[in-house]
Amino acid sequence: MNNIAILCSGGDVSGMNPALKRFVEYAKEKELEPYFVYDGYEGLIDNKIEKATYSDVSGIITRGGTKIGSARSKRFMEVEYRKIAKENLDRLGINMLLVLGGDGSFRGVDIFYKEHGVKFCGIPSTIDNDINGTDYCLGVDSALNIIKTSIDAIRDTASSFSRVFVIETMGRDCGYLALTTHLTSGAELCLIPEMEYELQEYEEEFKKQIANGRRYFIAIVSEGIKQTSQEIANWFEKSIGIEARICVLGHIQRGGNPTVKDRLMAYKFVVNAIDALLEGREESVICYDRFGFNFKSIKEVTGKKKELDKELLSYL
Ligand code: F6P
Repeated sequence: MNNIAILCSGGDVSGMNPALKRFVEYAKEKELEPYFVYDGYEGLIDNKIEKATYSDVSGIITRGGTKIGSARSKRFMEVEYRKIAKENLDRLGINMLLVLGGDGSFRGVDIFYKEHGVKFCGIPSTIDNDINGTDYCLGVDSALNIIKTSIDAIRDTASSFSRVFVIETMGRDCGYLALTTHLTSGAELCLIPEMEYELQEYEEEFKKQIANGRRYFIAIVSEGIKQTSQEIANWFEKSIGIEARICVLGHIQRGGNPTVKDRLMAYKFVVNAIDALLEGREESVICYDRFGFNFKSIKEVTGKKKELDKELLSYL
């Protein structure tokens, strides 16, 4: 029997638990012995690797986060720790690995493959949706829906007073979450790292809108822009003359009940990734675009910064 393991690395996403559930089920269907690596590459080094059973994954499909933990590992960047990780896998006869993570996690496992030949398939998993070569990363839809619900709720209170709410979304240096939720929530302003802006350019228009009866504004700002949310709020108060509040959504965006889309994508990512390994594809990342699933090399995925969808950007 071939042994296969799965680990989560980097920021967790809603969708990882459904992926773990499908991993156990599908590995068994394919007569593979499934293993969980707890706490990402850290667990690979510290030998936190255990056989995964049906009961481990029962009831987890509704939960955000990841049952097996995640971590950002500095040690895995060092050759001597990767050697220890390989020894741990060898003792259990594991020669295939699924990695749920982002491009940093994929770079790490690629070096591991080159040094020790452990076959892998990367499954793009980050709310930032910033991995080159794939239109979709696991967890994005759940995060978008959390942001949407938050903005809708904030709109209720913003409209009760005459106020601006500056709502800060995550994304590191990618504005995908902010841009998409801006377009789907009817916010008045959106600022993202991919777009140059000067606040004063909005001044005349916003003042005109207030003169015409507008009571409140919603501004969606992505982390990674040139100003802090506080500076944007200060500008609204000083230059537009309207009271401002800030709401940093923070890690709320990473948690919560996985959406139907993320549960289904988790299912499909895992099935296709295991099939690919069994068909002899030894070192790839499974990507998704309008043509469906495809496999890319680490070089393609990590070699270039992902660009925001031009159509979405054109609506800004
Ligand atoms: O990459 C996912 C992400 O949530 C980013 O959007 C954010 O910048 C970062 O992780 C936060 O990292 P941490 O959870 O380590 O604070």
